[in-house]
Amino acid sequence: MKGILSHEHLEDLDAESKYLVHKAKDAAQHAHAPYSKFHVGAAILLADDTLITGGNQENAAYPLCMCAERVVLYASSSAHPGKIIKKMAVIAHKKNQKELVAATSCGACRQVMLEYETIQKRPIEIVMLTKESNWVIFPSASFLLPFSFNQENLI
Ligand code: THU
Repeated sequence: MKGILSHEHLEDLDAESKYLVHKAKDAAQHAHAPYSKFHVGAAILLADDTLITGGNQENAAYPLCMCAERVVLYASSSAHPGKIIKKMAVIAHKKNQKELVAATSCGACRQVMLEYETIQKRPIEIVMLTKESNWVIFPSASFLLPFSFNQENLI
C-alpha cells in the first residue's frame, strides 16, 4: 500500500483528488448547517467513476446532526450497494467564507469509513485538509483509526 501523501497546495494533488475536492466544495453549498455555521462537503468516487456527494445536515434537535462524511457514505451504500468506494474527499468552510478550514473527520465518521473499507476488502483513500494547512491523502481509512473495532472482532 502507498504511504501518506502531504501537499501544501491543492494544485499539487493528483487530478483525481483535485476533482473530488472541487466536488466536495460544491457539496458544501448544500450543507444544512444553520446552527454550527460550519459547512462541510464530502465527495466519493466509486471504482466505476460514479460520483456521490453530500453535506452535513443539522437539526434543531442538535444530537440529530449528521456529518457530511456519513451522509455521503450512507448515500453511497444505499444507492450503489456492493460497489467499491475508491476515494473520498472532505472539505469545510465557515458560513459565507471562501477560505477552507481543517476538516479532519470525527471519530464516528472514521469508524463508518472503516466499516465500508472492511466489507469491500479494498482501501478507501481519504483526502482532507489538516490543521497545519496541508492537503493529506491517506491511502486507507485504517490510517485514521488505528486499533479499531470492526467486524473481524466479532468472528
Ligand atoms: N462535521 C462534519 O460534517 N464533518 C466533520 O468531519 C466534523 C464535523 C459537521 C457536524 C456539524 O454539523 C458541524 O460540522 C459542526 O460540528
